[in-house]
Amino acid sequence: MTEDLLPTLAAYEEAARAALSPRLAAYFLAGAGAETTLAANQEAFGQVSVIPRHLRDLRGGTAQARVGNLRLSHPLIVAPFAYQTLLTPEGEIATAKAAAAQGALMTLSAQSATLMEDVRANGPSCLWFQLYWQTTREATLALCQRAAWAGFQALVLTIDAPVNGVRDAEIESGFALPNGARAVNLTDQPQPNFAPLGEGESAIFDRIAHIVPIWKDIEWLLDNAPLPIYLKGILHPDDAALAMKAGAAGVIVSNHGGRVLDCAIASLRALPAIRQAVGPNAMVLMDGGIRRGVDIFKAIALGADAVMVGRPVIHGLAVAGAAGAAHVLRLLQDEFEIAMMLAGCRTLADISPECVHLNW
Ligand SMILES: Cc1cc2nc3c(=O)[nH]c(=O)nc-3n(C[C@H](O)[C@H](O)[C@H](O)COP(=O)(O)O)c2cc1C
Repeated sequence: MTEDLLPTLAAYEEAARAALSPRLAAYFLAGAGAETTLAANQEAFGQVSVIPRHLRDLRGGTAQARVGNLRLSHPLIVAPFAYQTLLTPEGEIATAKAAAAQGALMTLSAQSATLMEDVRANGPSCLWFQLYWQTTREATLALCQRAAWAGFQALVLTIDAPVNGVRDAEIESGFALPNGARAVNLTDQPQPNFAPLGEGESAIFDRIAHIVPIWKDIEWLLDNAPLPIYLKGILHPDDAALAMKAGAAGVIVSNHGGRVLDCAIASLRALPAIRQAVGPNAMVLMDGGIRRGVDIFKAIALGADAVMVGRPVIHGLAVAGAAGAAHVLRLLQDEFEIAMMLAGCRTLADISPECVHLNW
């Protein structure tokens, strides 16, 4: 262990809170509004207990997972998060190196502060690219095509943020993007028009709603994009069913880590009904609130094929750059395997709803 590495996931979280300035902590660690959803994501994991089985034959056990056409050593994916150069000078390249070192799939954010081609060149396991709708079909497709040329193998279209959430913590801290941190992969987009309002006009609906995609646009993109697309930000079982019917590669059950609609349902709580709605063969991923390896176990028991993690990787990067992020991923992977063994599960297929008791 190098000097900067810490012994536990909780120690990384505590050290990150101490290391980040109040403004950066407001951006990276806080949530929207009263942080009801941010808290609920983690509380939901606390309300699930594991019922272990003992004395089973665990020889040949493995945490291997299949996600799309990828075989992963663990069902753990790095979630897309923006502007990583604010956490460590190498930014997204540090995360890509960390993910590659641990064999973890990484998703690059559309709001990456590093060119997607440079991240790909430094990160063989940074294979997914996340994007938002780019106000027009053509611009959105062009971004998908660029990601395909850069060697990404799948896209994650985030659909839960047609406008930014109300981020009290950022407003109170006076957070603004420092000079030099830019979403360098995005070309200039037509911006909503903020001229003075006419009578009866709504600043939010009238000025923004016409550039927000609807299901018809998503269906068009799914038909035309060069790569499979996962829809991220699904919380309602009917939306999950619509996504699969439209041809999505899978759904990512997520409330954006509590950063968008405060009071949205905790991701873990939404998961069982979504699995039920899409059936056993659809790809269902989830994120939000995973802080321990045993949380991955609980998510899989409740229907996830794999999970994404955001804040824990942020903690690792803030404390010790690429080495910290790699160590956090390793701790999560090791803790997950330990949880599997202690619960008597040899493979992911053994982790079923019968392994858990819900206290909600
Ligand atoms: C600082 C920050 C920036 C984020 N940026 C993005 C983004 O650019 N695109 C996106 O789809 N999700 C973004 N997210 C949401 C994450 O992908 C993920 O859904 C969330 O962090 C999962 O919750 P967790 O942090 O509890 O693991 C961001 C999250 C954080 C904390």
